[in-house]
Amino acid sequence: MTPLKLGMVGGGQGAFIGGVHRMAARLDGCYQLVAGSFASDPLRAHAFAGELGVDKDRSYDDYTQMAKMESARPDGIDVVSIVTPNHLHGPIAEAFLAENIHVICDKPMTATLAQAKSLVAAAAVSKASLFVTHNYTGYPMIRQAQQMVTEGVLGDIQIVEANYLQDWLSKAPNPDNKQAAWRNDPYQSGGGAIGDIGTHAYNLVGFVTGLRTRTLNATLHTHVKGRLVDDDARINLHFDGGARGHIWVSQVAIGNANNLTLAIYGTKGSIRWSQEDPNKLWYTKLGEPPVMYTRGGGFAYAAAATVTRIPAGHPEGYLEAFATLYKEVAQVIIASETTHPNTVIGIEQGFDGVRFVDACQRSSKAGAAWVEL
Ligand SMILES: NC(=O)c1ccc[n+]([C@@H]2O[C@H](COP(=O)([O-])OP(=O)(O)OC[C@H]3O[C@@H](n4cnc5c(N)ncnc54)[C@H](O)[C@@H]3O)[C@@H](O)[C@H]2O)c1
Repeated sequence: MTPLKLGMVGGGQGAFIGGVHRMAARLDGCYQLVAGSFASDPLRAHAFAGELGVDKDRSYDDYTQMAKMESARPDGIDVVSIVTPNHLHGPIAEAFLAENIHVICDKPMTATLAQAKSLVAAAAVSKASLFVTHNYTGYPMIRQAQQMVTEGVLGDIQIVEANYLQDWLSKAPNPDNKQAAWRNDPYQSGGGAIGDIGTHAYNLVGFVTGLRTRTLNATLHTHVKGRLVDDDARINLHFDGGARGHIWVSQVAIGNANNLTLAIYGTKGSIRWSQEDPNKLWYTKLGEPPVMYTRGGGFAYAAAATVTRIPAGHPEGYLEAFATLYKEVAQVIIASETTHPNTVIGIEQGFDGVRFVDACQRSSKAGAAWVEL
């Protein structure tokens, strides 16, 4: 496969997720990073482009210039990754979609519902597509969970429980921590834990179960003094068809690093999965003892085997799951597909995630009232 030409906006020196995107893009040889606008300050951006081996003439002062100049080149980028703070996702994505350049955007897709609506309108008139990196959907055992639900192994889904617990924001906001600083600014983040990790939990629920949320109620709370956004959220979900769900996300739950868990209970059985032990999936058939499936093991389902790279017992993890998203997006782009397989997260799910945040904020402000999405 000829690698796709990749550009990046954000992800400069000291940034968190940009480096992860670059590793994920490299793992399967589907992309070559050739251009970027890596930081808000052009001098820092150019210095970092040099470190990454990006040519000087393809390191840009800002994303507007980058979109126009890359589009004008015969060897311009095919796709751009957006790894900036949330409030910039919408405007940057629109700039590249206007030039018919594909977009891989980190979550949440935008900081506000208005930005998300504007982006959907921009995508509708572009020849390019937008993809969202809800990377937890790339784990083999999550793919197996999705297949088990689709094949009816669990029966009718009755209850879904997802928790995403962290503790890295347990102390008062520290302006020296760049990642924490923009997340604490409602304008830049659009919300706290609910947007940062709530969107991952909500997306995972929909990805595995296929259930669509009809109404929800939410309590968003700020425990830490001086914080301007929520740091803890509890959400009850009513799905189409009558199933019930619950999500708890917190960034002040001391003792938790990235404790994302998912449990799904149906009429015939249940499954349980934990992100911190991602190579295992627990399944219990009604009336029988629990069974543990392992990634790469002889009993793994086809959906898990397809995205498994190495034999069972050698742990795979976060980077491989992230790389699976990059690989599948490359396949969609290369095949010029306009409809995506249900494993690829596109603008529809990105929009749904922003709508979820908006509904949670509306509900919480109204005293945990039930609201429609
Ligand atoms: N998928 C995941 O699990 C995951 C994990 C962490 C963060 N994220 C998301 O990734 C994004 C970045 O988060 P982070 O923690 O890496 O933040 P960060 O603060 O570490 O990095 C942000 C980068 O964007 C750059 N930037 C800011 N304004 C810019 C501009 N105008 N032009 C070019 N670059 C600009 C900054 O210089 C910095 O390099 C956020 O949207 C966040 O929600 C996703």
